[in-house]
Amino acid sequence: MDREIALSLCREKTLKDTTVRHLISVEGVMRALARRFGEDEDLWALTGLFHDLDQDVTGEDGVGHAEVAAGWLREAGVDERVVNGVLAHAYEPYRTDLMSKAVVHADAVAGLLVAAALVRPERAVGMKVSSVKKKLKEKAFAPGVNRDEVYGVEEGIGLPLEEFLAVSIEGLQLVAREIGLTPEG
Ligand SMILES: [Fe+2]
Repeated sequence: MDREIALSLCREKTLKDTTVRHLISVEGVMRALARRFGEDEDLWALTGLFHDLDQDVTGEDGVGHAEVAAGWLREAGVDERVVNGVLAHAYEPYRTDLMSKAVVHADAVAGLLVAAALVRPERAVGMKVSSVKKKLKEKAFAPGVNRDEVYGVEEGIGLPLEEFLAVSIEGLQLVAREIGLTPEG
């Protein structure tokens, strides 16, 4: 699926701009991870972009989360591997391959990186692994970020934490301008 079409589907199905920005941040991280693993960048990016597509309609209780999105994506003819990846970020049994495992870690780290970028004057530009690691240790910082899903990355997809953070920062930087995470805003 063409990115412009994918993005318009995101805008159509979400209610909040923050949701779209979150989707794009995970898209960037997934693209960089695919590059690192020599996997299909566009497929991984699309999984990141769509992973929380139904977030604004499935609400706080999470009932039907990812399943609603999966229905929409199948309707739109999206690749079944992407649909599986979207289901995987919410439900463990779908974590059957590298991409569907990676999206769990990408989702968590993107939340951390965006929060860390927002407290820097340079935003995502020049962001360092060492400072992100510090933020990761500060439990009061971005408390909604699932730390276990960040720390579990080596066990999950075989990438050491430091390298994962470095690749993820690069991924966020790929989309930083688009989501207002450059100094220009
Ligand atoms: Fe998410």
